[in-house]
Amino acid sequence: MIPSRVTLVDVGPRDGLQNEKQPVDTAHKVALVHRLQAAGLREIEVTSFVSPKWVPQMADNAAVMAAIERRPGVRYSVLTPNMKGLEAALQGAPGTRPDEIVVFGAASEAFSQRNINCSIEESIERFAPVVAHAQAHGIKVRAAVSCALGCPYQGEVSLDDVERVVRLMKQIGVDHCGVADTIGVGTPRRAQAALERALKHFPLNEVSGHFHDTYGQALANILACLELGVNTFDTSIAGLGGCPYAKGATGNVATEDVVFMLHGMGIETGIDMEALVDAGAFISGVLGRPPVSRAGKALLTKREKAAA
Ligand code: HMG
Ligand code: MG
Repeated sequence: MIPSRVTLVDVGPRDGLQNEKQPVDTAHKVALVHRLQAAGLREIEVTSFVSPKWVPQMADNAAVMAAIERRPGVRYSVLTPNMKGLEAALQGAPGTRPDEIVVFGAASEAFSQRNINCSIEESIERFAPVVAHAQAHGIKVRAAVSCALGCPYQGEVSLDDVERVVRLMKQIGVDHCGVADTIGVGTPRRAQAALERALKHFPLNEVSGHFHDTYGQALANILACLELGVNTFDTSIAGLGGCPYAKGATGNVATEDVVFMLHGMGIETGIDMEALVDAGAFISGVLGRPPVSRAGKALLTKREKAAA
């Protein structure tokens, strides 16, 4: 049942850098995407076309998309909360458009209001034309269901609430459903239960897990979801990440840690660990701090010792 190959979607350039207080140059964002694709990542969440008043860190979205030198076989995705965002994402030259967009809703009413300023029902009404328009342009649509394992404002979120949003996302025609633990409070059996609700409506290859690692549970949650056969996970280089509207939530599970675990289990990812560690060291250097990734740090220390 455990998959022999897993696809990782590196969300670091978006989920990671949206949360940094200090501005990160467009050139550094572009360089990070280049390093990730050189390391073998085949899905990269590059930026988001959201309001620059809400998330100024992503205001250079179009510039980043325009500057990336694309590699064949790599899927570049962006977040689009509404038609305005999608239109902006489509505005550039054909080679600068995303291959995939993400509409992001929530299983918690309170988080929906704080994050995208509307109710769950309103969000679905907004997403419906975005999904149709994107697909008419040949763009794949992924849904993110935030707060599926807990909410920073309302606490508990029921599995029925998760499934309700999954079902609504299916009804408006999204291609893929990502189940997100926005604040990293989920534990393995609960993670499995939430993904099982998504699997009732989407095929195995179109369900993914997005685990923030606030409480150190993300690797265990991924392992639990691998047991269900789930083969796609969002991860973030150097463990960057968080959501400006989910205070206290730390980064996504580090790509380096997940790759270390998967390769150790004999599961293929197509990712080169050494190049990945370089990418993590690069962006951590830009941000002026060590990588959060345990595997990244350990491998860097090993290199230093070998060179000494
Ligand atoms: P709103 O204020 O309700 O929007 O925000 P509005 O339609 O009333 O428009 C207000 C102003 O925003 C107008 O400008 C619009 O033009 C502009 P003004 O007339 O005042 O100058 N505007 C936009 N500008 C650029 N791009 C757009 C856009 N839309 C409106 N797309 C809105 C609603 C959704 C825009 C806002 O709440 C927003 O941008 N929210 C984004 C929040 C966000 O990015 N959160 C982080 C990403 S989600 C996440 O991290 C979770 C995830 O990782 C999974 C997980 O871990 O759970 C995916
Ligand atoms: Mg996130």
